Amino acid sequence: MLKHIIMNHPKSRRNFIKKTAIVGAGISLLPNLTYGSTIENNKDKLKIGLIGVGLRGINHLNNLLLRDDVLITAICDIDNVRIQLVKNILKKKNQSVPKFFNKDDYDYRNLLELKEVDAVIISTPWLWHTRMAKDAMLAGKYTGVEVSAANTMEECWDLVNTHEQTGTHLMILENVNYRRDIMAVLNMVKQDVFGELVHFRCGYQHDLRFVKLNDGKSAYGKGVEFGEKGISESKWRTQHSVSRNADVYPTHGVGPMATMCNINRGNRFSSITSNATKGIGLHNYIVKNGGKDHPNANVKFKQGDVITSTIETTNGETIIVTHDCNLPRPYSLGFRVQGANGLWEVDGNRIYIEGVSEPHKWDKADEWLKKYDHPLWKKFGEHALGAGHGGMDFFVINAFVESAKQNIAPPLDVYDAAAWSAITPLSELSIENNGEPQNFPDFTRGLWIKRKPYNWIKNTY
Ligand SMILES: NC(=O)c1ccc[n+]([C@@H]2O[C@H](COP(=O)([O-])OP(=O)(O)OC[C@H]3O[C@@H](n4cnc5c(N)ncnc54)[C@H](O)[C@@H]3O)[C@@H](O)[C@H]2O)c1
Repeated sequence: MLKHIIMNHPKSRRNFIKKTAIVGAGISLLPNLTYGSTIENNKDKLKIGLIGVGLRGINHLNNLLLRDDVLITAICDIDNVRIQLVKNILKKKNQSVPKFFNKDDYDYRNLLELKEVDAVIISTPWLWHTRMAKDAMLAGKYTGVEVSAANTMEECWDLVNTHEQTGTHLMILENVNYRRDIMAVLNMVKQDVFGELVHFRCGYQHDLRFVKLNDGKSAYGKGVEFGEKGISESKWRTQHSVSRNADVYPTHGVGPMATMCNINRGNRFSSITSNATKGIGLHNYIVKNGGKDHPNANVKFKQGDVITSTIETTNGETIIVTHDCNLPRPYSLGFRVQGANGLWEVDGNRIYIEGVSEPHKWDKADEWLKKYDHPLWKKFGEHALGAGHGGMDFFVINAFVESAKQNIAPPLDVYDAAAWSAITPLSELSIENNGEPQNFPDFTRGLWIKRKPYNWIKNTY
C-alpha cells in the first residue's frame, strides 16, 4: 500500500532523480571538490536546504561541500552569528550563495516552499525536530533529521503518519551506525560469526557537564550557565535534564544494535523497563565551578545521573541501554553484541568466539575487526576519516544523499526514527512507575513481520 502511495505521489516523480542517475552511479568514484557552482549550471545536483547551522549543522555543511553531487541552495537559522559564519565558509570556498532564512522560529517554512530545495537536513534543538520534519515531509522535501527524532509518543506517530500520508521519506541521521567498528561487527553479525543473537548492551556514556553548562560565550567554555544565558547546546539541552527523568538521547547506542537485530524488519522492540539513580552530577558541577551561591546551584535537576533501560524484542533478545552524561567519566558507548557462539565488547576491545578463540580467553578485537572491515569503509575509509567523528559523519551523509537522489527509502527510515526515539517517553513512564514495563507500539502496523532487512553489506551506501 505504501508503495502505491509513493508511486502516485507527485513529488516522487521529481526530475532530479532521473537526471541524477548518472551522478548516482558516479558516487562510486569519490565525491570531488567542486567550487564556484551556481544553481543554473547545476541542474543535476541534489539541492539541499539546511535548517539549523549550529555545531552539528556546520559539520554537515562542511561534509556536503566536499561532494560534487549536491548543491546547498538554502540555509535557515535564527542566530545571525551562525548565518554569518556560514556566509564566511561559503565565501572562503568560493561557493554559490544560497538563500538565507533567519527572520523567526518559523522562517524555515519559507525555505520549505522553495522549488530549488529537494532535500533538507534538520540540525536544530530537539523540540524542533518533529515539527520541522513533519512540515518538510508535507512540503515533499526528502527529510534528514538529527538525533533523536522525537520527544513524545505523539511525535513518534506524527513522523510515521506524515510519511505514510505524503510518501515523502525521512532518514534519521544516526552516524554511530556508520562507525568503523560497528560496521565491522555488523558484517560479522550478517556472516553469522556470533551465531543466533541473544543480548546487546549500549548507551550514551559521555560526560556532558561542560556542554550542558558553559559561560555563554563559547560552546565548551568554562562556566555554569544554561538556558538564555548559555550558548549552543546549553541553551536548550540542559532544560531536558531539569524537566525530564528519562533517557533523552538513546539513538547513538540503540541505533546500531537495532540494525544488527533487524528491528522493524522481522523483529521489533516489544517492551522496556527503566530505572534511574539520583541526580547529583550537574548540581555538584555547578557548585564546584560557580560556587554554592550561584543561582543555578538552586536548580533541581529531575534527570537521574545513570538511567538504565532493558528492552525486550519479539525475537527474544534483550538490549540494555544506559544514559550516563552528568558524572565524570571517559566516553564510551559501552557496546556488547552477544550470540550463541560468542561476543564482542567494545570496552576492553575484545572478542570471544567459541571454537576459534582459546577457550575462556579473550582475543583482542583488532584482528577480527580488520578481517571483517566493512566494504564501505574499505572503499571510502581514507576519504571519510577527514569528515568528523572518526569518519562516520561522511557515511551517514553519503547514505542520505544517495537515497535522496533516488528518492528511495533510506537505510535508517521513519520507522527506525520512531521506534528508537520512543525510548525517551517510554523510559520516562517506566521510571515514574518504579520500573514498570511499558509496551512499544508497533509503528509498522504489522508490517515488521514481512519487511526485509536493508542490504547492509555493499560498498555504495
Ligand atoms: N549525531 C551526532 O553526532 C550529533 C552531534 C551533535 C549534535 N547532534 C544533534 O544535532 C542537533 C543540533 O545540535 P547542535 O550541537 O548543533 O546544537 P546547537 O545549539 O549548536 O545548534 C542548533 C542550531 O539551531 C538553531 N535554531 C534553533 N531554533 C531554530 C529555528 N526555529 N529555526 C532555525 N534554526 C533554529 C540555533 O540557532 C542553533 O544555531 C541536536 O539534535 C543534537 O542532538 C548530533
